[in-house]
Order: sequence, then C-alpha cells, then structure tokens
Amino acid sequence: VFAHIARGPEDPILGVTVAYNKDPSPVKLNLGVGAYRTEEGKPLVLNVVRKAEHMLVNDRSRVKEYLPIVGLADFNKLSAKLIFGADSPVIRENRITTVQCLSGTGSLRVGGEFLAKHYHQRTIYIPLPTWGNHPKVFTLAGLSVKTYRYYDPATRGLNFQGLMEDLGSAPSGAIILLHACAHNPTGVDPTPQQWEQIRRLMRSKALMPFFDSAYQGFASGSLDEDAQPVRMFAADGGELLVAQSYAKNMGLYGERVGALSIVCKDADVAGRVESQLKLVIRPMYSNPPIHGASIVAAILKDGNLYNEWTIELKAMADRIISMRKQLFDALHARGTPGDWSHIIKQIGMFTFTGLNSEQVAFMTREYHIYMTSDGRISMAGLSSKTVPHLADAIHAAVTR
Ligand code: LMR
Repeated sequence: VFAHIARGPEDPILGVTVAYNKDPSPVKLNLGVGAYRTEEGKPLVLNVVRKAEHMLVNDRSRVKEYLPIVGLADFNKLSAKLIFGADSPVIRENRITTVQCLSGTGSLRVGGEFLAKHYHQRTIYIPLPTWGNHPKVFTLAGLSVKTYRYYDPATRGLNFQGLMEDLGSAPSGAIILLHACAHNPTGVDPTPQQWEQIRRLMRSKALMPFFDSAYQGFASGSLDEDAQPVRMFAADGGELLVAQSYAKNMGLYGERVGALSIVCKDADVAGRVESQLKLVIRPMYSNPPIHGASIVAAILKDGNLYNEWTIELKAMADRIISMRKQLFDALHARGTPGDWSHIIKQIGMFTFTGLNSEQVAFMTREYHIYMTSDGRISMAGLSSKTVPHLADAIHAAVTR
C-alpha cells in the first residue's frame, strides 16, 4: 500500500547538512544551517548551560512528571520578560499569555493554528525572501500565505518602499510575519525609524504583527536592543504575537526550547486565548519537554548566570562580526570583482552573498563548500582558518 509513494525532496536547509555529511573531502565546510561553531569549527555548549545542567542534575527534588500543557510556568514568565522587558506594560497589566513550545518552529506553528481557528483574517504575509520553513509552517497551519517585498537585490539592502506599498495594500486585519531582528536569510533589518513607520502603517490598517524572534542577542550582541521592534509594537497597546527561540542565543538547538506569546487587549481576553492555545497543543504533542526549559529558567532567574550568559552571547555575536570583516578583507585582498560591503553591513548569523545557484553549485563541486542554493552563508560556521578557502571559492565562482 505504500509502494506508490514517491521520494520527497530533502529540506533546502537541513538537506545541505545531509549532503555535507556524505562528502569525504577533508577541506569540506558546512555554511548551510545556522548553527554556531567555535574557531575550531566545533559546536559550542555554553559554559552557563553546563552550569545550569549541573545544578539541575544534582537537585534530587526534580522529577520527570509531565509539564502542564502550556509548559513550565517560570520559563514562560521569564521568556515574556526577556522579550518584552521587565517593566513592560503588557506584563504589568497581565494581558499576555505565554506558552512553552518546541523552539521557534513549534511556536510559529501553534500561533498559526490558533490564528487559523480563531482570528477573522486567514491570510499571512511573509517577507520575500524569508526562512524557507515559514511558508510551509503557515500553510499547514491552515493560513493562506502571501508575500510582501522586502529585499532589493540591486542594493543588497531593504526595499523599504516596496515593503510599505505591499503592507499598505494588504487587506485590513491581515497577519504580517516580521523578523524581530537579524532577518533570515538576508541579514537586512529596517532601521528604528523605518520600524516606527511600519508600526504606524500596520496599526492604522489593523494588520496583526506576528514576530519571529530567533536571534535575540545575536544581531547586536545586546538582548534589549534586538528586542526593540517587538517592544515598540507592545508599547502602543495593540495586539501582537511573538515566537521566541533559544536555539541560537543559548545554543540549545536540539533541546527544542521556545515560547509563543500573544499580547491581548486585557487580562480576561488573555486567559481565554490561553485556554484555546491549550486545545491546539494537547492533540499535537500533549505538553512540551522539561529539560531545555528548565535550563533556560535556571539561567534567566539567577542574576549571576544571566550575566554570564550575556557575556557568552556577546562573544558569539562578536566572533560572527569578526568573520564578516575577515571575509570582506580576504575578498578585497584578492581583488574579487564586485562590491562586497554588504558582508559587513548585514547582521546576524547570515550573509546573503548575492551568489546565484550555479555559483553555489560550483563552489560545492570544486571547493566542497556547502550552503543553501540562494547564496546564503552561515557566518557562524566560518573561522579564521576557513575564511581563505571560502574567499578563494567565491573569487573563482565570480571570475570563471
Ligand atoms: C537556519 O535557517 O539555518 C536555521 O534557522 C535552522 C533551521 O531550522 O532551518
């Protein structure tokens, strides 16, 4: 009965790692998936995470009971505080519900399913381009997906005018997916002034903001600064959704820790919204896993651990910024044709190089460098040792 089933395609991002793993070359380099690597090219478990895990393991009072459907209460409260700020009116007025979900993807999916069931507009606008999983998550959640202009290939920057025109002509009430910071894949974010214009336009048309916050702390190195766009929308009293991930900023990728917050008009509405989120979650996976959320809660609630975390986070962000500079300098030194200043201007984990899919295929074939076919490279996968190899490959790809 299954014999007719055709083989499905590999995921455009995670499939890059599958191809990389099959390559026997000693010089191979995986710049596909956005996962932090050290200067030695190794995955990093933060010291502060090890410390928190140690504390948890030694606490004999801890048990493995099911969490509530909405997850660990401490984790939820602390996650809201992290993204909205400790003195946020939405927290003070208790008009928010936060539920623990399976990292960013799970939070987006639960939010999408909730909106498809209970919100009057079923259309979500996502930026063009965006993270490859966004259209799939929201389509399967039951929403209808459209795009708004975002990136301008000519300037390798933001197409602000196109963005404003497209949001301006979206139907009233439509859901708008916004990357809170460090837009994936382009590394291009609106300026604070542009965010303010976006906010005004969206509120004037009752467009519903749905933030994807996967990189808080990674863009600027400051948790507060990277949360500004979300806080700007939260401050005006309107509703919004935000999906948070701890994959990158705490390096908890495989622990699948994230949160969905929905800001409502008042506490009563927030309570009812939460009751409906439980009805979305229970048949999907019953309740979330306990370990990763306990690590996050332990770090966020302890002043010393929190400070240690911010230092380690800043070190990761700084290493990525230094990779940008080194790659830019290496291309400059080789006289590689083209303006590569976008490598240092773009922010977050990724550089959207402007290389086309043929050039990417060439670099993979000849240089064993793996990246997504849209020309995105994960700067977090680079090191001082591998920058020359990448620069040689880019130079060869654009001059051949
Ligand atoms: C990425 O874009 O590489 C990351 O967000 C990892 C993923 O799940 O795709």
